[in-house]
Amino acid sequence: MLEGTKINSPSQMSSIFDIAKDTVLFLLLSCYYILESLFWTLVPNVMRPMKSLKDDVILITGGGGGVGRQLAIRLARLGARVVLWDINKEALEKSCNDLKDEGYDVRGDVVDLADKESVYAAADKVKKEVGKVDILINNAGVVFGETLLDLSDTAIETTYKVNILAHYWTTKSFLPDMISSGKGHIVTVGSVAGLLGTYRCTDYSATKFATVGFHESLFTELRAHGHNTIYSTLVCPYYINTGMFDGVTPRLMPMLEPDYVAETMIDSIRKNEVNCIMPGSVRYLLPLKCLLPAKMCWDLMHRVMKGPQSMMHLKRKPKLN
Ligand SMILES: NC(=O)c1ccc[n+]([C@@H]2O[C@H](COP(=O)([O-])OP(=O)(O)OC[C@H]3O[C@@H](n4cnc5c(N)ncnc54)[C@H](O)[C@@H]3O)[C@@H](O)[C@H]2O)c1
Repeated sequence: MLEGTKINSPSQMSSIFDIAKDTVLFLLLSCYYILESLFWTLVPNVMRPMKSLKDDVILITGGGGGVGRQLAIRLARLGARVVLWDINKEALEKSCNDLKDEGYDVRGDVVDLADKESVYAAADKVKKEVGKVDILINNAGVVFGETLLDLSDTAIETTYKVNILAHYWTTKSFLPDMISSGKGHIVTVGSVAGLLGTYRCTDYSATKFATVGFHESLFTELRAHGHNTIYSTLVCPYYINTGMFDGVTPRLMPMLEPDYVAETMIDSIRKNEVNCIMPGSVRYLLPLKCLLPAKMCWDLMHRVMKGPQSMMHLKRKPKLN
């Protein structure tokens, strides 16, 4: 499906002259990219061209929960046709009914993302009954919040199924139509815990690291095959005040609010940004983990930021067998 290779194969690029030519071109383009990026950073959103989402079909997984619900409300208000998937029937109905009360076109399906066959069946139904999905937001996530030896095998497997494997089933379902129409956007919700390993999150952090790899590899595949109008955005928020990390008391930065996260995500999608890290200051801290001595990083983490200590207050989730 990703046929139509646009880049040169290694044998075509082997001469020293070609390498020198490509390097010079790269350096010249880099100056342009840096200036372009600086320019757009300084221009306020109201003055930026942002893509319209009017009449786009946008599927949001976990649409009954904190961020998913806020995304649904805002995207419907922007004129999108919203499809919500969630395992929690009550929460899903609440999101759908609130939007229907405001007069918006919304559809909600109860789907267990941990069940591959249910995901494929639900995707087929959406394609038949709604049509092509223009934007897929892989937002649903779970955390059990136990240290490794207290995590049940089922909890680990569920975390992997929901937080990363489901991204494969949904993307495989909806990407082909995006490619054939030349229009599409895959949004991958990761986490700052997917950039920095987090206490009581050996499963959660690992799946969120996997979302980074998934997004980056998919990005390279789409670009390498010339699908330049299919966009992908990776969203990595810090703690959000939705209840997922109830009880956690971060020391240096307060939790983000779900409406702010949804608003920032939508801006990022409308600008076709590749990465959306929230808050932005976190992106300057991350390189430190590769640059500083490991002992210094650990000291920064537990002495100054009190990361593990704050996660010790995470409220226990119901145990899975
Ligand atoms: N809350 C945070 O602090 C935080 C921080 C960084 C990233 N994130 C990520 O942001 C995303 C949204 O998180 P949130 O805070 O809104 O969480 P939330 O718990 O409020 O919402 C998650 C939604 O996913 C749904 N869901 C869970 N398992 C499912 C399954 N098997 N099938 C279908 N739906 C399922 C839940 O029912 C819920 O409605 C998640 O991917 C999460 O990992 C959250």
